[in-house]
Amino acid sequence: MTASAASRVEIVRDVASLRARLAERRRAGETISLVPTMGALHAGHISLVVEAKKHARRVVMSIFVNPAQFAPSEDFCSYPRSFETDAALFAAAEGDLIFAPSVEAMYGEGFATTINLAGPAAVGLEDRFRPTHFAGVAIIVAKLLNQCRPDVAIFGEKDFQQLKVVTRMARDLDFETRILGAPTVREADGLALSSRNIFLSAKERARAPSLYAALRRCANDINAGVAIETALDTAHATLAAAGFVTDYFEARHAETLGPIASRGEGPIRLLAAARLGKTRLIDNIAL
Ligand code: PAF
Repeated sequence: MTASAASRVEIVRDVASLRARLAERRRAGETISLVPTMGALHAGHISLVVEAKKHARRVVMSIFVNPAQFAPSEDFCSYPRSFETDAALFAAAEGDLIFAPSVEAMYGEGFATTINLAGPAAVGLEDRFRPTHFAGVAIIVAKLLNQCRPDVAIFGEKDFQQLKVVTRMARDLDFETRILGAPTVREADGLALSSRNIFLSAKERARAPSLYAALRRCANDINAGVAIETALDTAHATLAAAGFVTDYFEARHAETLGPIASRGEGPIRLLAAARLGKTRLIDNIAL
């Protein structure tokens, strides 16, 4: 364990040190929140820290670009990494400890365990386009929960399916940690903050808010009594006209993420993933 010269934030890189440090905190009667991240922090992550502080005395952030949740064709190597800036942002948000392990520390030689997911992990949304993604998320989140044993862990609603998958897994495997979601943070024009937004060209960035606009319009249409199918068709057409290639744009049951055909069948969440050039954007809203 080392102490950052620039701040009071502690930076821990191995599991044994993390456990020792957090055990001290617990002996002192302090509660712990965990904010799991892959770094490249933006205001959305900081909002998770702010939320975490409401629920526990100490806030731990994990920063780990998890290879297991990237398919070979995806952007693991080019995923943005900015540890020094991240540490400064976390310190400014008055976080306490960063856990930033190496890949070797998390996936030691011979690592051979997987978690077989169903339920919200197998509903034909992200899982249809990234079939190995949630298994990678689940294994790393399970490890982080086990390593930190936090009272609370905070996940952004921007990755709404991930939030549901993690909540289900924590419940099914009897983790004592409470899993909480926190609202998506947006730019002034509605674009959901994402570490991958930096990959948008200027032209793509100008078009990107159309995704949120399409979600809003679709929600308004459904609330006004337009049939779900019709409202979704309009959204698909709007996104195509704005230059997006849409992976999915769907209305789902907000709890189970199962299909929903009418407003009366339960609370609805609209979820979408669409590509602008090489950048894939995901977003969702409640009705
Ligand atoms: O949402 C993310 O940044 C990641 O999927 C998570 C939860 C940190 C697991 O690597």
